Amino acid sequence: MTETVDLGEYGAQFLADPHTVYARLRARGPVHRVRLPPPDSHRETWLVVGYQEARAALADPRLAKDGARIGVTFLDEELIGKYLLITDPPQHTRLRSLVSRGFTARRVEALLPRIQQITDGLLDAMLPLGRADLVESLSFPLPITVICELLGVPELDRAEFRALSTEVVAPTDGDREYEAVVRLGEYLTELVEDKRCSGPGDDLLSDLIRTTAEDGDRLSPGELRGMAFLLLVAGHETTVNLLTNGVHALLTHPAQLAALRADMTLLDGAVEEMLRYEGPVETATFRYAAEAMDIAGTRIEKGATVMIGLAAADRDPARFPAPDRFDIRRDPRGHVAFGHGIHYCLGAPLARLEVRTALAALLRRAPGLALDGPPGAWLPGLLIRGMRSLPVRW
Ligand code: HEM
Repeated sequence: MTETVDLGEYGAQFLADPHTVYARLRARGPVHRVRLPPPDSHRETWLVVGYQEARAALADPRLAKDGARIGVTFLDEELIGKYLLITDPPQHTRLRSLVSRGFTARRVEALLPRIQQITDGLLDAMLPLGRADLVESLSFPLPITVICELLGVPELDRAEFRALSTEVVAPTDGDREYEAVVRLGEYLTELVEDKRCSGPGDDLLSDLIRTTAEDGDRLSPGELRGMAFLLLVAGHETTVNLLTNGVHALLTHPAQLAALRADMTLLDGAVEEMLRYEGPVETATFRYAAEAMDIAGTRIEKGATVMIGLAAADRDPARFPAPDRFDIRRDPRGHVAFGHGIHYCLGAPLARLEVRTALAALLRRAPGLALDGPPGAWLPGLLIRGMRSLPVRW
């Protein structure tokens, strides 16, 4: 009989340092039955922690995403609507082809001057202060501004949107999560309606509103709302934590920071290592077994849910030697911080560009950058790895 590991038993320690727990599990095998920590302690699932098995599982079509089967409560068209991460082919293929043209390498590269300008403006406001919370001053406002401008919703109430969106990706309580989903749904309905009425612009949301696929197909109102939801949420909840976790890793590894300052051509590799070492997506979103299957000799029954541990896979010593060492010169290629397979992150080029731009400017303009006290609490849940605040001075 398979033993169920109760992740809740590790308490706050699991939030502060999940890597030790994953390492212990990995040493026993690549797949485990786990009970989730609160507020999801009523849920049991399979968890994949080995690199090779995780990468294979991410690309396995038998592990499907149909939202109704993976316990996503906000599928109802009245609330959010269908979106990429809870759909399978052919619906997924159709939705992804409609939106991917907005995220080609060329479209994203063209955003560089504006990303630079937003970064410079944020640093102009932050640097005279001498000390600040990096999350408030840079990590949050940069990606949210970029994704809002890209979508064409500069008037978004960011404080409210942020609170709702963070509750959805890192729920503190089941009821509060549901309320946040309902509010977000209403919010997005209004946002899409306003956009529809105000006439088409040259932004991504206008594009999606008037878009017609080759077969004459259009996005339904629910699909539009779902797409706006996913892009707005995925477009900032992740990047904010990559930038913050990355700066935290540098400031707690002074030799690595010094090496980067001395040779900024190491920056691209440093960002990849930040993704591997403390990527912002700790586990991929739920999948379920569309048919009974085996993962590394473990029988997964039909209909069972499966979580794929991205953070666990990226610290598998079988793939990355001395995985707990943050080393900006290592070769971290092949990490799964952006996922793998058909759901591979659509925003990866944008996220990389934002974080590289912000890090380069921050290190150049704040030569004495240092920690200014302990970081804020780690966000709850297994989906997002990030801290609520990071006090810094310079
Ligand atoms: C450091 C930043 C980011 C990280 C680490 C990240 C990570 C991920 C991961 C792991 C997935 C796959 C999840 C799964 O298979 O369950 C994913 C999917 C996705 N991401 Fe990102 N993401 C980041 C930034 C962004 C940005 C900036 C955007 C949007 C502009 C974005 C949009 C998306 C979308 C739309 C999907 C769904 C793709 C699909 O289902 O086909 N992400 N991301």
